[in-house]
Formats: sequence, structure tokens, C-alpha cells
Amino acid sequence: MSHNALTLFTTRRSQYALGKNLPIAEAEVDALIRQAIRLAPSSFNSQSSRAVILFGAASETLWKSITKEILRPLVPAEAFASTDAKLDSFAAGAGTVLFYEDQDVIKDLQQKYPLYADNFPIFSEHSAGMAQFAVWTALAEAGIGASLQHYAPLIDAKVASTWDVPASWKLRAQLPFGSNQKPFNEKSFIADDIRFKTVR
Ligand SMILES: Cc1cc2nc3c(=O)[nH]c(=O)nc-3n(C[C@H](O)[C@H](O)[C@H](O)COP(=O)(O)O)c2cc1C
Repeated sequence: MSHNALTLFTTRRSQYALGKNLPIAEAEVDALIRQAIRLAPSSFNSQSSRAVILFGAASETLWKSITKEILRPLVPAEAFASTDAKLDSFAAGAGTVLFYEDQDVIKDLQQKYPLYADNFPIFSEHSAGMAQFAVWTALAEAGIGASLQHYAPLIDAKVASTWDVPASWKLRAQLPFGSNQKPFNEKSFIADDIRFKTVR
């Protein structure tokens, strides 16, 4: 099958060996991330996704100072070396996208459409995933590697105070990105008959 979208989706992988040599200018990466999030769909076109885009020293602060110091007292001392190395590998990249969902948008929707009130937090999570996939794939197309991380809610308060993040923004994921320093591992796929049913 040769469809451009599928070729693109094949290009997006989890890259843990990141470097700082971006193939395009930071400003272009910033614009790409913003446009990918703008174009991602959301329930009722509510556009609940928000992002803080960290480059260079700011991204290093996230991983080497904030996340490391929060995890240090929580991770058993004998396990910290591997945590330390993992956080350093994220800091080795060129930047990190922090993905948020604005809880005020969800509250407004719940007031406006009480019939769907229970669904809006779920729709918000779906929208977050779509925004993350859009950014991850757009970066991959630009030759930039990334991985998806989840250190919320541990790091939320410190991140919010460091970069003045609005209180209504809820941190959902972190995407450290940078140059691809290693080839990707082989990816395995489960059998189609477990996953799919086509009916006519
Ligand atoms: C919802 C979601 C959560 C994930 N959480 C993490 C995570 O916390 N840490 C991590 O290293 N990878 C995480 N991943 C990456 C997956 O492990 C990875 O996408 C999967 O193994 C397939 O590999 P690929 O990304 O190379 O296609 C997550 C992926 C998704 C979609």
C-alpha cells in the first residue's frame, strides 16, 4: 500500500536516542508544533489543547532539574541510576513539548451542553491524544525524533510555577524531541484477526 499518510505514520516512532542537531530552525519547529495542534480535531471544535514548547536550556531544566529533583526522593536509591540516565536522555534532545488540556474549556462545555456533561472530560483526553499524534507525526516528517512521556501529576506544580502556566491547564503528556541519534528498533504487530472485523 502506498499512501502518503501511511508512509508518514510509518515514519513516526518512539526515539529515545535524541540529540541537539535539529534539521530545521527552532522557529520552524515551533511553528510546526503550533500548526499541528491547531489542525488537530477536538469535540465541538472546542480546541481544549494547550502547549508549552521548551527549547534548549528550558528543556534541560525540565528534565535535569525539575523532574530529576522531584523523582530523586521517590525512586529507591538503587533504581535511581536508570531514572537518572533516562532523564538525561530526554535532556539530550533539542526541546520538549508539554501538552495540556484547559479544564475551563471542559467546564464551559458542561454548562452549555449538560446532556453530554460526563463525556467532555473523556473527549478532552481524546483530543489530547490527537494533538499529540499530530505533533509527533509532523516532527517525524521533518526528520525530528521524539518519545511520549508521562510525569504528570508529579511535576505539574513546579512546571507551572517555573513557566507561569495558567492554573486551568492540566498537564497530560511530555514529548521530548531532537535529532535521531540511533535507528529505530524493530516494531512488532499483533495479528489482524485479533484487532479488526470488516463487515459488508
Ligand atoms: C497513550 C500513550 C502513552 C505512552 N506512554 C509512554 C510513556 O509514558 N513512556 C514511554 O517511553 N513511551 C510511552 N508511549 C510510547 C509507546 O510505548 C510506543 O508508542 C509504542 O511502544 C509503539 O512504539 P512506536 O512509538 O515506536 O510506534 C506511549 C504511547 C501512547 C500512545
